[in-house]
Amino acid sequence: MRAVVTGGAGFIGSHLSLSLAKEHEVIVIDDLSAGRMENLSGASVKLHIGSVLDPDLLSRAFAGADMVFHLAAVASVTQSIADPVGTSWVNAMGTLNVLEAARAAGAKRVIFSSSTAVYGNGIDQLKSEDMQPEPMSPYAVSKLAGEGYVLAYNRLYGMENSALRYFNVYGPGQDPSSEYAAVVPKFITAALRNRTPVIYGDGEQTRDFVYVEDVVAANLLAARWKAPGLYNVASGISTSINELLRIVENVTGRALSPLRQPARPGDVRHSAANISKILRMGWEPEVSLERGLQKTAEQLAQDYTNS
Ligand SMILES: NC(=O)c1ccc[n+]([C@@H]2O[C@H](COP(=O)([O-])OP(=O)(O)OC[C@H]3O[C@@H](n4cnc5c(N)ncnc54)[C@H](O)[C@@H]3O)[C@@H](O)[C@H]2O)c1
Repeated sequence: MRAVVTGGAGFIGSHLSLSLAKEHEVIVIDDLSAGRMENLSGASVKLHIGSVLDPDLLSRAFAGADMVFHLAAVASVTQSIADPVGTSWVNAMGTLNVLEAARAAGAKRVIFSSSTAVYGNGIDQLKSEDMQPEPMSPYAVSKLAGEGYVLAYNRLYGMENSALRYFNVYGPGQDPSSEYAAVVPKFITAALRNRTPVIYGDGEQTRDFVYVEDVVAANLLAARWKAPGLYNVASGISTSINELLRIVENVTGRALSPLRQPARPGDVRHSAANISKILRMGWEPEVSLERGLQKTAEQLAQDYTNS
């Protein structure tokens, strides 16, 4: 099988590409705006450096593809607020370009990386796929638009695409130095480097953390499951940021005194997923938060020793 991975040099995309490359031919498209070539080092993948906004590049790269995993995106709420138009181009129009290229190449399935952000800040804490989305940021709107295109192509052209709504993905390889770095690598880095972590708001906001290899497994399953469509990908367990900090302290053996800052605009208050739909497809999260944080901390500690 020939698989294309857009955004394949990024955090999740590189884990997916490395996993696919064990058995399949893998073509990666990434403009390296956030991803890094080193994420793919040692893997047998063909990398096209360029944008999903370039239809000619897509058409060349998609030739003979059986399967497309579309992860390329501006993957930050904060950045989307700073540049809503640019974000929309990449996340919405880029997705449409990918669908057109996949269809032209005769690829039957596009597996699209969507986000929990589409649910917004609803009162109901448990987020199910049948809930009315209430996006709070340009990022969330652009992901919802991407989902709309992906699922419309199933109805219009008989494709078998799926949109996977990831909750908070974490694991080795998540960039702790980026301005938009997620809370997990930030906390672990703070612990390993004796820095002060920042908590926005009261820290009682909750997230549903899912380990990156579980997300890879969901993508691989979606490539062949019987019921294409919209699925949450999450652990189904809600953890507060204060609680996360305590687990990072346990895993690293370092005490942390966070700096408290005001809540950020566009931030969701509570996030917990109903994962019954994807469980019925035979997927389940296998890595506990404690174990996943341990693996992430080990990798980051090793990176710091080598740097
Ligand atoms: N990490 C999470 O918790 C999370 C949660 C929900 C959804 N997602 C989605 O999963 C996907 C992967 O996220 P990630 O955390 O690995 O982020 P990431 O930033 O590491 O990966 C995104 C990749 O896309 C590439 N890219 C950006 N614009 C591009 C363009 N125009 N053309 C080609 N490549 C481009 C970047 O260089 C990067 O390698 C994204 O679509 C993101 O929105 C991630």
